[in-house]
Amino acid sequence: MRQVNVKKFHKKKNKKNDKDFYRLMVDSDPKGSYAEAIKSVRTNLQFSSVNKKMKVILVTSPESGDGKSMTSANLAVAYAQEGKRVLIIDCDLRRGRQHKIFDVNRDNTSGYSDLILDYDKDIIYKNYIVKSGIKKLYILTCGPTPPNPIELLSSENNKNLLDELKSKFDIIILDCPPVVGLSDALVLSKYSDANIVVVSSKKTKMESLKELKKAFDKVNSTITGVILNNVKQSRKSYYYYGE
Ligand SMILES: Nc1ncnc2c1ncn2[C@@H]1O[C@H](COP(=O)(O)OP(=O)(O)OP(=O)(O)O)[C@@H](O)[C@H]1O
Ligand SMILES: [Mg+2]
Repeated sequence: MRQVNVKKFHKKKNKKNDKDFYRLMVDSDPKGSYAEAIKSVRTNLQFSSVNKKMKVILVTSPESGDGKSMTSANLAVAYAQEGKRVLIIDCDLRRGRQHKIFDVNRDNTSGYSDLILDYDKDIIYKNYIVKSGIKKLYILTCGPTPPNPIELLSSENNKNLLDELKSKFDIIILDCPPVVGLSDALVLSKYSDANIVVVSSKKTKMESLKELKKAFDKVNSTITGVILNNVKQSRKSYYYYGE
């Protein structure tokens, strides 16, 4: 397993429109240390996939607020900057927030939950998948919260949908809910080629991380890499260690 450290950043609002612009730092500050750390995640994934395709990348964490959505969004930007056609799917059907990060008007379009329900071979994707505002990066927002997220995610429709989306995009990033207490991410790990776990420095408890590992083991899914997020340090340092 590999680990990449991502520094804690100081939030600063975009002076022009006061949006949460700072969140997509790989876009706004592509040479900064945050962007560098995220790009090193991309590089690590390339190295870990010498013999297999790396198309669907799942991002999760033990608990809420560890930084999954932020990391997913910025990783998606990093792939788009490389020229890949990227789709980020907000798989958090309970409290998704990618539409906020990318400032997409969720009320104008349907999201992932609708798309799973409506899916058939003749589906018109542009009614669901929208442009993110960043070249080559598309977004599928979470859609309305269904009463039964697990049932939806485990459905045959979702399987077929994800299969088809794989033929339309180079990279698909799945921004998932946390693992402790919820099995959404575990269900989705059946469809992913890589599973990234975001751990929040000082916040994430060792017991939760162990619980996550156990849950992954139980469904025979492997953790490809760990991102240690919110690291308080002034110098740049990313650590990698062997399996
Ligand atoms: N490296 C970082 N430095 C500073 N703040 C961060 C960092 N990463 C994430 N945050 C902030 O922490 C908060 C939680 O981040 P985020 O929404 O990405 O977490 P999450 O794991 O997706 O949460 P949830 O489980 O609720 O979906 C956000 O306000 C985000 O801007
Ligand atoms: Mg999130």
